[in-house]
Amino acid sequence: MVYQRVLRRALFRMGGGDAEVAHERTLRVTTRLGALPPVVAGLNRYFGGGTPRTVFGVRFPGPVGLAAGMDKDGRALRAWPAFGFGFVEVGTVTRYAQPGNPRPRLHRLPASEAVINRMGFNNGGAAALAARLRALGPLRVPLGVSIGKSKVTPVEEAVDDYRASLDVLAPHADYFAVNVSSPNTPGLRGLQDKAALDELLGALETTVPLLVKIAPDLSEHAMADVLEVCAAHGIAGLIATNTTLSRDGIAPQDAERATETGGLSGRPLTARALQVVTFVAKESNLPVIGVGGIHTADDALRMLDAGASLVQVYTGLIYRGPGLVRAINRAAR
Ligand code: FNR
Repeated sequence: MVYQRVLRRALFRMGGGDAEVAHERTLRVTTRLGALPPVVAGLNRYFGGGTPRTVFGVRFPGPVGLAAGMDKDGRALRAWPAFGFGFVEVGTVTRYAQPGNPRPRLHRLPASEAVINRMGFNNGGAAALAARLRALGPLRVPLGVSIGKSKVTPVEEAVDDYRASLDVLAPHADYFAVNVSSPNTPGLRGLQDKAALDELLGALETTVPLLVKIAPDLSEHAMADVLEVCAAHGIAGLIATNTTLSRDGIAPQDAERATETGGLSGRPLTARALQVVTFVAKESNLPVIGVGGIHTADDALRMLDAGASLVQVYTGLIYRGPGLVRAINRAAR
């Protein structure tokens, strides 16, 4: 409540309403908080307390993770566990550092509790992330690393690009998320097609568990293909879902903003993400991380009931604040 009445109002006004300015400042403040051990301890007492679980051989102290994209370069890794996160997924990073798309590229749709982003994998590159993680040393929670294709790399050479990121980051990752579902890198979603995914997963050799993150815009037939290829390559799990290209469920007040190009996340995605999680959990034996439009503890419980082993949040954090993580930790005991 304090978050929504005070902090959120301030954040939404920041930078003349430029959502990316609010994002950058939040990340900076969060990073600083993570460097203060008494603050970390205090936050942890308030937000923590999730029930531990072991999924694909990794022990998670709690069921709620920070979704990819919030802390792409792993800047605030000391702080996230203090806010109750049982794991953190950094990235998506790419083999080569890249600036992403021109700004503005992040838009809030407040009446819909949604966001449209076309960031385009702005990140410091896989080697820089590896160096930061090496300097940081071990974390209190498992670390997922999301990898994607560099913009300069043609889709035909995507396999080498992913493999280069995988090799440099393998010593630091508790799992990898193979991102083939971002809508903001031309051609990337084509890697979800059966033959392309088969080739990609066949080339990614590592002892670290590999998960595949899928789009919510796949047909059941396409999802079944993905599951078949994942099973054939011993994939450890699925992350469902990424942002959607659909504009269903937008409030009339946000109609103009909804014409922005990019992936939509938040409230309008809740029902579809739950549907996808239900389908993939039923049709495969693979563990699933459920993500998409989780804005309340009940949303998270529905994901877990549908067969997810863990959940992740991003847009829900923007609209509901870190109290969301606390609420899920308390509800999912
Ligand atoms: C994302 N998401 C994302 N996913 C991913 O795999 N790699 C990425 O780099 C990003 N980047 C990113 C940036 C921004 C600004 C947003 C809002 C989202 C997708 C995210 O991890 C998640 O799958 C979706 O946003 C759905 O969850 P929420 O936001 O509805 O909880």
